[in-house]
Amino acid sequence: MTVINFTNLDKTYNSSNQRQSHLGSEKQDNKRKDPALKHCLLDSIFACFIIFLSLCLIMMYAHYSYVDGNTDCPRCHRYEDLFKNIEKLNKYKKVSCQGNEFHGDQSLVPNQYRIVCYYVILSNSTHSRQLPSNYVDPYLCTHIIVGFTAVFNGTLTPPTSEIIDIYKTITAFKLMNPSLKVLLSVEDMASNGEFGKMVADENLRHKFSVDTINFLSSMNFDGIDLDWEFPAWPNPNIEQAKNFTILLENLKNEIAFRNNESYILSVAVAAPEVIIDQSYQIRDMARFVDFINLMSYDYHMYTDYLPLTGPNSPLYPRPADRLFQQTLNINWSVSLWMKCGMPASKINIGIPTYGHSFWLINEDNNGWNAPAKGFGTIGSGGFITYPDACHFIADPSSTNHFDDDYRVPYSFNGRNWISYDNEMSVREKANYIKENKFGGAMIYSLNSDDFYGECGTVKFPLLRRISDILS
Ligand SMILES: *[C@@H]1O[C@H](CO)[C@@H](O)[C@H](O)[C@H]1NC(C)=O
Ligand SMILES: *[C@@H]1O[C@H](CO)[C@@H](O)[C@H](O)[C@H]1NC(C)=O
Ligand SMILES: *[C@@H]1O[C@H](CO)[C@@H](O)[C@H](O)[C@H]1NC(C)=O
Ligand SMILES: *[C@@H]1O[C@H](CO)[C@@H](O)[C@H](O)[C@H]1NC(C)=O
Ligand SMILES: *[C@@H]1O[C@H](CO)[C@@H](O)[C@H](O)[C@H]1NC(C)=O
Repeated sequence: MTVINFTNLDKTYNSSNQRQSHLGSEKQDNKRKDPALKHCLLDSIFACFIIFLSLCLIMMYAHYSYVDGNTDCPRCHRYEDLFKNIEKLNKYKKVSCQGNEFHGDQSLVPNQYRIVCYYVILSNSTHSRQLPSNYVDPYLCTHIIVGFTAVFNGTLTPPTSEIIDIYKTITAFKLMNPSLKVLLSVEDMASNGEFGKMVADENLRHKFSVDTINFLSSMNFDGIDLDWEFPAWPNPNIEQAKNFTILLENLKNEIAFRNNESYILSVAVAAPEVIIDQSYQIRDMARFVDFINLMSYDYHMYTDYLPLTGPNSPLYPRPADRLFQQTLNINWSVSLWMKCGMPASKINIGIPTYGHSFWLINEDNNGWNAPAKGFGTIGSGGFITYPDACHFIADPSSTNHFDDDYRVPYSFNGRNWISYDNEMSVREKANYIKENKFGGAMIYSLNSDDFYGECGTVKFPLLRRISDILS
């Protein structure tokens, strides 16, 4: 459900220069409006001076934020390389945004906001904390998505008896809360694995659709969530993106065919522009899915090609963010999904209950974009749960900040540095959903919220904040 690989960025862009040509035409308009040549000259000289000054400031900023106090960060230059590719971003051949612009259908406001919660069954491949299935609260979510199963030989992997017991516990919550819906999520973390094989074959796509709906019916599930990360990524493959859309259509038809029952079809989708452009035919997708779960997190985490601190799930950019950085936030991702044809009412905005840890190179360089050389020592593998964060910030020697632009907190203590969400940041995200009339929130995950109530007096404090606002 996480970890996005940007290493193929260089490969996947073609060159372009939309932004510059846009600025160029603005300049021409100004010239036409101003007949006084002398003024124009003075203006130009003044503008050059301002640009020169700005460049100096940016270079000073870059020097201090990336280099200062940096004893051994040989890979930090790659961050700069990434920005050199920014102009190339715009013209990449998109499959997602064909046709006219579309700004979402605001008339399709749901009468109830969805609160879609992932419940993760531990497996070797998931970074998560064990949440006993009987500790799940049946009233805080409108939908619970149980993850993750996989595809094998064109069909869903048969569950073990332990897993069937978990399915039964969660689906039995519907007896307590009759409006609750329980979905099953099928995951694949590669485009060339079992999922890719299945979508490439017309017979297997059909078999998968029929088998899946039969399985949902036999296990008392209400729907299926596809979490394929990602179609046609990292290698562009328009055929594969199209075949994924066809699979969605097959599933939709199979659901419609069983008109005496009704099943939900959802897809967990990417937030970064490069993946959105390559993986999804959004306008067609919107016809087949009931909703999408936007994975609007992991915008920043420690990696060896981007070894710098940053927010996991910022709501907005900071004014200091440059071109590519400006795209790494929820407001930006969701705007692109809507512009490309996904109605607001079908979008569930992802809110993480987990965060990321970093190990600073220099504990005195501890803001945004500070060089790091690995994961922090709290949590596991760079992931921290909300209880990990709440214990960390309660330590009197920790320094805790809330960023006024990103609208998320961060904290540090010595060389440990964490980005996470707290009650204030999830409340703002829930209000954002309400103000902009999105379909609802997706919470990843129940497992990393404080389900024992160790941080305060209530259980699931983050989910409870979201539920207070959206129900
Ligand atoms: C998961 O890990 C355990 C212990 O490390 C191992 O015995 C088991 O085979 C692994 N399962 C899978 C499916 O890889
Ligand atoms: C895969 O499924 C086909 C039927 O669709 C079956 O004949 C074949 O034995 C299966 N292969 C494996 C390895 O299970
Ligand atoms: C897409 O599906 C068609 C069959 O409908 C198949 O011929 C083609 O090879 C598939 N391509 C990919 C990349 O999945
Ligand atoms: C729905 O109809 C199918 C046959 O079309 C039948 O097998 C199934 O049992 C029915 N389900 C319910 C819940 O009535
Ligand atoms: C959020 O996105 C919208 C649409 O793209 C834009 O008009 C607005 O300025 C953005 N808000 C912020 C605070 O960046």
